[in-house]
Amino acid sequence: MTERKYDQTLHIKTDGLREPQAHTEKYNRYEATPYIALEKLIKQYRLQPSDQVVDFGSGKGRISFFLHYHFDVPITGIEINTLTYEEAMANKQQYEQNNPHLTAPIKFECNYAEQYRIAPKDNVFYFFNPFSLKTFKQVIYNILASTRRHKRKVDLVLYYPLPEFKNFLDQETPFQLSESIKAYKKHGKYGEFLIYRI
Ligand SMILES: C[S@@+](CC[C@H](N)C(=O)[O-])C[C@H]1O[C@@H](n2cnc3c(N)ncnc32)[C@H](O)[C@@H]1O
Repeated sequence: MTERKYDQTLHIKTDGLREPQAHTEKYNRYEATPYIALEKLIKQYRLQPSDQVVDFGSGKGRISFFLHYHFDVPITGIEINTLTYEEAMANKQQYEQNNPHLTAPIKFECNYAEQYRIAPKDNVFYFFNPFSLKTFKQVIYNILASTRRHKRKVDLVLYYPLPEFKNFLDQETPFQLSESIKAYKKHGKYGEFLIYRI
């Protein structure tokens, strides 16, 4: 199925690229994870009914809608670009109207990822290369602090993982690589998911 067709199936519009707004230019641009890659991800990586997902840098919401459609679990998307956030909210309205049988909540917050307050039940965190290593570290420290307060299994799902992010997780955190899934040839060696677990 093409990207456009998949969007139509979900009743959303998530294609295209968007460069950062002036005040957020140190953060990376909008580009959605390819649907082909997401299909490969969920063949090997299944969410459980007790899981609660956060997509850091959620863009127009593709990950949120895709995972919700397949697993009907609660999802929160955090996006700093106001225009992109508004498009995610428009997508949410269309998606919910057309999928009333799916009942888990989907939320979007227009916020900096590093300022999001991790909820005690959030336990699957998705990143498609949204920001610098400095911001990523801050977000990971927030997740670790949350796991100290509320002990639970936590997964990080990284798409397009860059070496410096992997080195940080391997060398400076208790997260351990549990799975790698080759997913999208056009992105070369970066077209893979890495699942880190604690
Ligand atoms: C590569 S896109 C990924 C979109 C979506 N997660 C997906 O995989 O389809 C990264 C998004 O992160 C957003 N972003 C960048 N820095 C951010 C930050 N500090 N807090 C929240 N969102 C941020 C960008 O505006 C962009 O929409």
